[in-house]
Amino acid sequence: MKINFANPSIPNKGVVVILATEGSSLISSTTKFDKQTNQSVTRAIKGSNFKGKNEQLLTLMAPSGTNINRILLVGLGKPKTINELSMQRVGGCIYANLAKTGQAIANIIVDAVDNSDLAAEHLAAQLAYGARLRSYRFDKYRTREEASSKPSLKTLTLISPKSSRARAAFAPLDKIARGVFTTRDLVSEPPNIIYPHTFAQQAQALVKLGIKVEVLGEAQMRRLGMGALLGVGQGSVRESKLVVMRWNGAGRSKSEQPIAFVGKGVTFDTGGISLKPGAGMEDMKWDMGGAGVVVGLMMALAGRKAKVNAIGVVGLVENMPGGNAQRPGDIVTSMSGQTIEIINTDAEGRLVLADALHYTINKFNPKFVVDLATLTGAIIISLGNEYAGMFSNNDQLSERLYKAGEEVDEKVWRQPLGDAYDKLINTDSADMKNIGGRGAGSITAAQFLQRFVGKTPWAHLDIAGVTWSKKDMATVPRGGTAFGVRLLERLVANYYEFK
Ligand code: BES
Ligand code: MN
Ligand code: ZN
Repeated sequence: MKINFANPSIPNKGVVVILATEGSSLISSTTKFDKQTNQSVTRAIKGSNFKGKNEQLLTLMAPSGTNINRILLVGLGKPKTINELSMQRVGGCIYANLAKTGQAIANIIVDAVDNSDLAAEHLAAQLAYGARLRSYRFDKYRTREEASSKPSLKTLTLISPKSSRARAAFAPLDKIARGVFTTRDLVSEPPNIIYPHTFAQQAQALVKLGIKVEVLGEAQMRRLGMGALLGVGQGSVRESKLVVMRWNGAGRSKSEQPIAFVGKGVTFDTGGISLKPGAGMEDMKWDMGGAGVVVGLMMALAGRKAKVNAIGVVGLVENMPGGNAQRPGDIVTSMSGQTIEIINTDAEGRLVLADALHYTINKFNPKFVVDLATLTGAIIISLGNEYAGMFSNNDQLSERLYKAGEEVDEKVWRQPLGDAYDKLINTDSADMKNIGGRGAGSITAAQFLQRFVGKTPWAHLDIAGVTWSKKDMATVPRGGTAFGVRLLERLVANYYEFK
């Protein structure tokens, strides 16, 4: 979909979207429009229960006196409640309502809302961003879909005072959306198409944004001693990879510590020899969601030329059973030198992250590291599909992540760590085992990771419950959500970018 910004004019054909605040007071351009259409808007409101509540919609077909086919009247809610997020949601709802109407072009008339804190150009930019985010669709393998069931909307124009300012406000948001879409593509692609090698190739495409990309294969990882990561991949015919992405946008001295993001990239998780049950196993194509977020995040940061030095590292493996697969009982040596007794080959994500985290910290000495992983089913039991689980050794980093999450509606909820939990992964046979007992499964997984981060400020986001959505949401269509891209982009923008 093309998104344009244009200066004020009253469109007289196609689809026109007009806005009202709660109490059904029309914004000024809507009032003008109402006059031109023979009070069709006022009369339609009278004949309905439209109150201008946030995301409330009212469609008017073919108003007389114009060539307009369809008017969509959209509620913004009370002026004081209007903010970036509420406007994004409205934009998403507008897109969803119009996408399949058979119309190719729509114009949204936006102007300043009295008593709102958001200036007109930001109203327009955030509406556009919400529409963009909602417009994502992964349909490349649907070869027989009828044209009438595909989205028809091709061009969305925001008609707004100071349209050049709105266009400028939208530009970085559109870059973030591109990162989001790349992540959604990666998690949506099937596991016969995206596996460690092809994932790494996708990451390599980021060089055209000015990101340095390095791909390590099994031989290099073996030399580095990454026995934990390599053990997971050894049952697969696909070669494991580690991808290192570097964005140096801060332009300060090289000695400045970078920030780092690490992602779990299990391109398919069968469970290995501790095989998962068959039902629903196809979902494990998105067990590379954390890695997908790191790629989309790096893209977003580079796309909008963020003034930050950021490292992205993803550990890519396929967890398969087979004659050469890792066994329960195996003991592997991680790059950190710590040994791990494998009790369950399905607790593989932490093994991949153990080496990816150690490598990142050891090599780049970052200010902090945030890892993302679809790590445990247990986090879905505790938090459902609303919040990601957060585990951290650092209060400041946790608070910043919490706030950024609230701001972009990718929310994280902190859960505890502690010695009593840490003990649960001790074993007589090695330095640790890869699972705890039945209880606190997400916490023991996080304790495991903590053994590989030393004193570096670190946060682990368990995104198993939020990486894939079964239902449509205002700015996130069902499917891959890319949860984490907007969150971490905001974390960087708020606290780590030098302006
Ligand atoms: N990838 C899974 C976790 C998962 C489950 C993600 C459901 C998304 C949806 C992870 O590798 C796993 O299998 N975890 C096990 C750990 C257990 C063996 C200790 C789990 O959660 O059951
Ligand atoms: Mn698993
Ligand atoms: Zn997994």
